This record gives sequence, structure tokens and C-alpha cells, in this order.
Amino acid sequence: MTPAWAQTPASPMPPQPGDRFVHLSGPKAGQPVVPEDLVIGSPRLAYPADPESGEARKARTNQVVLTRVDPAVLSVETRSVSWNGVVAYSAICTHNGCPVTGMRNDKTLLCPCHESEFDIADKGKVVHGPAERRLSNLPLQTTGDAIVVAGPFSGPIGAQRK
Ligand code: FES
Repeated sequence: MTPAWAQTPASPMPPQPGDRFVHLSGPKAGQPVVPEDLVIGSPRLAYPADPESGEARKARTNQVVLTRVDPAVLSVETRSVSWNGVVAYSAICTHNGCPVTGMRNDKTLLCPCHESEFDIADKGKVVHGPAERRLSNLPLQTTGDAIVVAGPFSGPIGAQRK
């Protein structure tokens, strides 16, 4: 039997349908994300969390940036994966993997490392900078008042090619 000190924790699963979200950082770190936390122009970093245990699926590749935009500006395709104007993307930049934490304006996410910009309203499309690939989208669905994962990421995370 392997002693406890020698055991390596299993890699957390990627986001699962039905997962909720918890704050990744800041004064609410570890607490559930509620819709009121998400205001236009103020992205929040979050982890998906098991809906039963509430435990965050803590892996860098699971880091998500949750943003709210005016639903009227969303493309039809993006609206279909959003929840009341809230859209979720991988927080790992597709250029060199920095965390995407900033905003250029009310509908554009900004990576501070080399200033790649991604269109929140158009499935994370690159609109400026060296990134060559859009941010991976994490589809959301409505379940009562909660923000819930609807399915897997739409593509590779960060600078991965597959
Ligand atoms: S790592 Fe994001 S722009 Fe370079």
C-alpha cells in the first residue's frame, strides 16, 4: 500500500455538465459564483465545481473567465452558449498561456502579457494581438438561478494545438 505522503492527487476532471462555479481568487475565493457577482466590464476568474460536493476542479486548464455583456451584442452562436448575457471562456491565453484577466472594453477580453484581445460576443474570436486562435468557450445553461456548465470546452486550452 502506498503511504499517504507518497500519493499524488489525481488530476481533476475537466468541467462536467451540471458543474457550478466558485471564485478562483479575491475576497470570495472558494465561494460559489452567483449571478449578482457578474457585472458588465468586470470579469471574474473561476473554477468549475462539483455540484454535489461543491469542490472546485482545481487545474490550470480548468480556469475560466466569466464575463457579462449586454445580451443584445451577442452573436447568435454565442447567445446559444450564454446565460443572461454571461459567457464563459478558458482563462488561458491561446498565445503563450498567460491568464486572461483584463478587459479592453465592455465586450473585449485582454491578455496583459502581449495584449491579445478576444471578442466576448463572438465566441472568443481574436480581434487584436499575436494570438492566432480564439479562446475556448465553455457553454452555459440555465438551471434556476444558478450558472451551470452545459458541456465541454469548445476546443483546445491555451497554446495547445489539439
Ligand atoms: S500570452 Fe497572451 S498575448 Fe501572449
